Amino acid sequence: MTRQPLVGGNWKMHLDASGAVDLIGGISAGMPELAAGVDVMVFPPFPYLGLSAEAALGSGILLGGQDVSGELEGACTGQVSAPMLLDSGCVVALVGHSERRHGLGETDFVVAAKVRTALAAGLRVVLCLGETLEQREAGATVEVVLGQLSGSLEGVSVEDLDRVDLAYEPVWAIGTGLTAGPDEAQEVHATLRSAVNARYDDRSASRIRILYGGSVKPSNAADLMACEDIDGALVGGASLEAESFLDIARAAARRE
Ligand code: PGA
Repeated sequence: MTRQPLVGGNWKMHLDASGAVDLIGGISAGMPELAAGVDVMVFPPFPYLGLSAEAALGSGILLGGQDVSGELEGACTGQVSAPMLLDSGCVVALVGHSERRHGLGETDFVVAAKVRTALAAGLRVVLCLGETLEQREAGATVEVVLGQLSGSLEGVSVEDLDRVDLAYEPVWAIGTGLTAGPDEAQEVHATLRSAVNARYDDRSASRIRILYGGSVKPSNAADLMACEDIDGALVGGASLEAESFLDIARAAARRE
């Protein structure tokens, strides 16, 4: 099965309102050249979703929330619900990013509730997984990511899985300039795909997109994208500049 590649720009807690609009403008300018050969998503900070949606109108850029509540509505101070994201022009939510798992203590249980709620409301989900340096050095990478996969997809049906993309992001590679080599990354991606096959079915395993994330740059994107089971990239730092983000998107679009 050919999987449409996907590149996501996770802006984290960067930019201001005019920076967000300018960045969308820069990415929009490069979209026609990509000729729909890659899905392009951006994840602006919540306060800039509305103006980002306006700026992205008609460009083909897909908008996502950097997180989503596990509750549909209610007394959840500071949280943003899936219906609010939809209302703000989002089609997808990023869930389980390591800065939330490790920085804010989100467990698989919490992540799974967010995944289920987002899917039930009609959003797509990009579900992030990844091991810490300590876990990698202890030889526990596979055990950790498979544990996260199964815990984070608790209660997700095979039908809903069609709206899930995975992002393998080794924690030690995020924002550090270190990156898993293509072979190292490919090995984990293939393991994740087999696990989806074992848990769901062959069709789901062959259609699910597995992005790589962690210091992806224009200089390393092509080698990563050439790997059989790497279907795109989740990009932090290099997504804050239109040209470098577009370069990565071009590398993903050229993926055979
Ligand atoms: P980075 O971030 O590209 O800056 O390493 C990736 C991410 O956190 O998604």
